[in-house]
Amino acid sequence: MQEIIVSGMRPTGRLHLGHYHGVLKNWLRLQDEAECYFFVADWHALTTHYETTQGIRTAVWDLLIEWLAVGVDPEKAVLFIQSHVPQHAELALLLGMMTPLSWLERVPTFKDQQEKLRERDLATFGFLGYPLLMTADILLYGADKVPVGADQVAHLEISRELARRFNSFYGRDEDSVRQVEKALQALGKRGGKTFATLQQRFQQEGDALAVQEAAVFLGQQAGLNAAMQAQLLAYLEGKGREILREPQALLTAAAKMPGLDGQKMSKSYGNTIALREPPDLVEKKIRTMPTDPARVGRHDPGTPEKCPVWALHQVYSDAETQNWVRSGCTTADIGCLDCKQPLITAVLAEQAPIQEKAEYWAARPAQLQEIARAGAERARHRAEQTLDKVRAAMGLIHDQAGI
Ligand code: TRP
Ligand code: SF4
Repeated sequence: MQEIIVSGMRPTGRLHLGHYHGVLKNWLRLQDEAECYFFVADWHALTTHYETTQGIRTAVWDLLIEWLAVGVDPEKAVLFIQSHVPQHAELALLLGMMTPLSWLERVPTFKDQQEKLRERDLATFGFLGYPLLMTADILLYGADKVPVGADQVAHLEISRELARRFNSFYGRDEDSVRQVEKALQALGKRGGKTFATLQQRFQQEGDALAVQEAAVFLGQQAGLNAAMQAQLLAYLEGKGREILREPQALLTAAAKMPGLDGQKMSKSYGNTIALREPPDLVEKKIRTMPTDPARVGRHDPGTPEKCPVWALHQVYSDAETQNWVRSGCTTADIGCLDCKQPLITAVLAEQAPIQEKAEYWAARPAQLQEIARAGAERARHRAEQTLDKVRAAMGLIHDQAGI
């Protein structure tokens, strides 16, 4: 069985080289190895941009165009637009019923973003519930792994906790409840007390050692067979049958793409090169990059480590070019514009085929729409399988009058 991977991106503007090197190249690898669901998170864009939604529409298609342009392949991965799969909303609603408010309020991005985006009123239900919607996105497809940046790890932790909570509430059928009762009886009164104490230590105090002690303790009880031991241990841990899978974060040591000023490349720092940046602008942006301030004049030597141009050479240049930069810079053999030239060439060479493909797709809206339609159909099919299990576990299938 292939692993299932889910990831989404918000449609909030054109992608830049940081997205390409940090996220998309990773997707290209994953689509060859796993069953991938990649979606345009348009509902997520609404959690912050609910007042002015005009931009979202174009951004959705721009994002899809850029994915295709870099080589994300609708034959290999399921590509779709979140709002075309209403199952995301249904699962988010159902999960919302059992999500403690405190879990959402303590997510660090909740307060951070409210502070950062002060011009927007983010004291909304939608913004608070953002990690919940993200959880639905992930659990709906039974994801094993979710490639995320470090900033999303806290969200993924909520997803894991919610899957566990759901399974412990609804993953108990009458059969297993009866079996647990029987096993508890077999423990006897004193054994039952010991068990209850261990269970409390784990569930209320989070003491993981209690699980190990319980395993030893249960192993020593003559009246329990192996199945009963396993059942009680799962009960102690609050585990139910797996209905929703707990996803793992796939933290790839994402090449931290340096921006034009040496900081991480990010739209909010204004230091980006867009994936579809016109070539003359690419050239201008690199030519005007700041360099080591010690190189005041052409004949002053510099230190590559103090220069943002050097950081870009790490990404784009081979060892030979890097050696040329290092010795040329430290001896003032080369000027900074000489040093930047191979970078300009490398970035333009990387972008040329991507930009060509982007133009190709941008000129074919009907084909784009068809890709999104077919992707949504596949996604809905998979999502519906999970939701059927979820509805049944929660008692929401009303094919017979339950009276
Ligand atoms: N929250 C992600 C971001 O802001 C986007 C996202 C939405 C996502 N749903 C997801 C990422 C599910 C991974 C899995 O970048
Ligand atoms: Fe930076 Fe290159 Fe100039 Fe050295 S020569 S300061 S590495 S741009």
